[in-house]
Amino acid sequence: MTQIQFGSSITPAELTGTLGGITIQGVYKALRSLQIPTEATSTRRKLVPSKGVRKLFEDRGFVYPKQNLSFQIVKGGTGKTSLSYSLAVRAYQYGARVLCIDFDQQGNLTRSFNVEARDRPVWLNLFRDRLDASQGVVEVADTLHLIPSNLNNSRLDVELTGSASNLRDMIRDKLADIRDRYDLVIMDCPPAINKINTAAACASDRIIVPVNPDPYAMDGLDFTITELERIRADFKLGFDFRIVWNRYDARERLGMYYIHELAKRPERAEMVLPFVIRTDSSVKNAIFDSKSVFDLNKKSVVREDIDQFAKEILGVNAWKESQISGGQA
Ligand SMILES: Nc1ncnc2c1ncn2[C@@H]1O[C@H](COP(=O)(O)OP(=O)(O)O)[C@@H](O)[C@H]1O
Ligand SMILES: [Mg+2]
Repeated sequence: MTQIQFGSSITPAELTGTLGGITIQGVYKALRSLQIPTEATSTRRKLVPSKGVRKLFEDRGFVYPKQNLSFQIVKGGTGKTSLSYSLAVRAYQYGARVLCIDFDQQGNLTRSFNVEARDRPVWLNLFRDRLDASQGVVEVADTLHLIPSNLNNSRLDVELTGSASNLRDMIRDKLADIRDRYDLVIMDCPPAINKINTAAACASDRIIVPVNPDPYAMDGLDFTITELERIRADFKLGFDFRIVWNRYDARERLGMYYIHELAKRPERAEMVLPFVIRTDSSVKNAIFDSKSVFDLNKKSVVREDIDQFAKEILGVNAWKESQISGGQA
C-alpha cells in the first residue's frame, strides 16, 4: 500500500482568516511562543502541520466538536464521496482527529485515499466476524484514519437483515472502544435507503445531503429526507440535516433557479448551508492523483468552497466571530 502524504497545507496567512482579529505577525508570534514548527514547501511557502494548528487553536480556546456525520442521498453522483473525502482532509489539516468509514461497496472513498482494501477487513467482517473496530482501521495520516470498504460489503445488507442485530446501536457500539480517539467520524454511504444507511443514520448526529442544482437531484432530496425523518421518528433519535449544494456552475442559468426554489420552502431552507460548492475539475483530478484539492499547487475555486464547508462543520466560523467580538488580539 502506498501511503499518500497529506502534506500540511495551512499557511500562516490562512490562519489570519481563521483566527479572528489577528495579523500575520500575530500568527508567527503565536507559533513561536507555542514552539510550533512550520514546514517549508519547495516554493519556500511556510505551512503549519495539522498538530500545530490544533495546538494553536486549543491554546486560543477552541474545542473540537465530537460529531458523527453521514453523507446520504439516494441519488448517485451528487458528491457524497468527494465531499466526505475533502471534508475529512480539510478537517484533518485544521487539526481535527478524523475517522472515515466507507460503507459503500464500490469503495470509492477507499480508493480516493489510495488504500488497497481487497484483503482487508471491512465493515462486513467487523460485524459478522465480531472483530474489534481497531482491526479495521487504516492510518492514512497520523490523525486521519479510515475503515475501508470493498465488494464484500455488498453482503452487509443481507447480513443485517438476517441477524437479530440492533440497527439503532450497531455502529456506535462497534466504535465505542475507539470513539474517543477522534473528533469527527465521517461515514460515506451508498446511494440507497437500506439497512446500512439506516444504521449509519442511527449513528449520526448530523446527516449531510449533497444535492446538485438540477431537477433529478431534487427528487432524490425529498425522498431521502422524508425516509430519514421516518427512521428518526421510529427509532426516537435526534440527528439533524444539512443540505449542501454541490457542483454549482454559474454558467448554467437553471442552477440558481433550483437554489431559489428550495430556499422558498421553509421546512427545507433552514437545513441548507449558506454557500455552494462549485463545479471544478480539480475535484476529479485530485482524487485521480490521490491528492486532495488542498495539495494541488494551483489555486482552485473548490478549494475555497471546501474550506468554508470544513470551517462550518468544525464550528470554526462561529468561533472566529466570538473571538472578534471578544476583542482578542
Ligand atoms: N464540485 C465538484 N466539481 C466537479 N466534479 C465533482 C464535484 N463534486 C463531485 N464531482 C464529481 O462527480 C462525480 C460523482 O461524485 P461522487 O462524490 O462520487 O458522488 P457520490 O458519492 O454521491 O456518488 C465524481 O466523478 C466526482 O469527481
Ligand atoms: Mg459515492
